[in-house]
Amino acid sequence: MAVTTGVVGGTVALRDTRWVEVTRHREVLPGLEPGHPPIRVVQLSDLHRGPFVDEGYLRRVADLAMELKGDLVLVTGDFVSRKWDYAVSCARALSVLSAPMGVWGVWGNHDHYAGRMPKIRAAMDAVGIRVLVNDSAALEPGLYLAGFDDHDTMGMDPERAFRAVPKKAAAIVMGHNPLEFGGMRLHGGVMFSGHTHGCQVAIWPVPALVAASTQGRVAGWYSRRGARLLVNRGIGTVNLPFRMFSRPEVAVVDLVPDGEPPVRQGSRMGDRGTT
Ligand SMILES: [Fe+2]
Repeated sequence: MAVTTGVVGGTVALRDTRWVEVTRHREVLPGLEPGHPPIRVVQLSDLHRGPFVDEGYLRRVADLAMELKGDLVLVTGDFVSRKWDYAVSCARALSVLSAPMGVWGVWGNHDHYAGRMPKIRAAMDAVGIRVLVNDSAALEPGLYLAGFDDHDTMGMDPERAFRAVPKKAAAIVMGHNPLEFGGMRLHGGVMFSGHTHGCQVAIWPVPALVAASTQGRVAGWYSRRGARLLVNRGIGTVNLPFRMFSRPEVAVVDLVPDGEPPVRQGSRMGDRGTT
């Protein structure tokens, strides 16, 4: 019995750890001008380049992301695990990313734990990934991208992040931890998070523990006062070198003006693997 359980568990872990799922979504972005063409966001999260996640896998994920033809590529934190010097390898893997509106990121808690943040930033800068730390950027007139610093490491400051965003502007927001969704009280919009790894090993009691630490926001879409949040299951692993019942995810979100029907939960269409 123990042998059977071990074999089944090992098979699931082998299958799920690097079997990337492309999830596809369509969502209203408040403030986007009527008639504006959809803005395609391709989101990667929780890469965790480190002892358990190699550069080759991340490069294959980046190549897959490029096939999805985003107007904007977002990397929502945890570029590295354990040591800052993995950042050079992570950046090399991500160097193929490009998009008309840019490739952007925010820090995750593991980036802070890895230390030497200026070195990690320099590595990302070198390959054109612009990290927003409680800051924003105008993508076009009336359309802004904002990024929070990480919640767990106490650097999150939504007031600073939204300071230069006009009240009626459309806002796309990055915040690594779903707990940062509270910051959207200052400005509505669509927020992209990660952090949970969709529980990574989605076997009791992990889902209950993750939900307890993120106000129940574990994976998929959530709403609060008109703002929307997508919690991405991420790409890599942490603490354990495998996933079970929580496949890695690349999310593709077409943001549309109000009045065009969103397609919400259950909209997953794409599903292809990479190993
Ligand atoms: Fe993570």
